[in-house]
Amino acid sequence: MDWTPSVIIAAVDGSEQSDRAAALAASLARTHDARLILVTVVRPPEGWWGVTGEPPTPAALSEALITGQKRILSEVEKNIDLHDVEYTTIEELGDPTSAILALSERERADLLIVGRRGAGVVERMVIGSVADRLAHHARCPLLIVP
Ligand SMILES: Nc1ncnc2c1ncn2[C@@H]1O[C@H](COP(=O)(O)OP(=O)(O)OP(=O)(O)O)[C@@H](O)[C@H]1O
Ligand SMILES: [Mg+2]
Repeated sequence: MDWTPSVIIAAVDGSEQSDRAAALAASLARTHDARLILVTVVRPPEGWWGVTGEPPTPAALSEALITGQKRILSEVEKNIDLHDVEYTTIEELGDPTSAILALSERERADLLIVGRRGAGVVERMVIGSVADRLAHHARCPLLIVP
């Protein structure tokens, strides 16, 4: 079977490992002439979801949080080689795993690429919880970059 991805998603959280995941994704996108989507998910701090379980509106989120997340995307754009790659950046809001899964279904992604670990500070696991949960639930091929 010939496998040619036309949509590749790389999830970035500002960590070195997600930079490596994005760099690999850019290289694959260039090779296969695929569209690349760089996504970062703004995770509202605990408590924002409130007693009703209603997600906060984007407007209710602090400016600082969103600005920080935008910086993550512009850093990635600086750090990796994106020449000759058709790419878009997108910020999502909510639980990172769910948001990444929803985006990959919406965009009919052929490949999802993430780091094995991320920006989390707790070194309790070999694999981060987002990467782990994506491995369990992704509906398309998933590449986990150490
Ligand atoms: N908020 C996010 N937005 C986009 N991608 C993310 C986000 N969080 C994690 N990822 C992706 O998942 C990869 C693994 O990160 P993960 O969060 O699973 O590990 P961790 O931060 O080390 O551990 P944990 O978050 O469980 O404490 C990252 O390299 C990145 O590709
Ligand atoms: Mg994390």
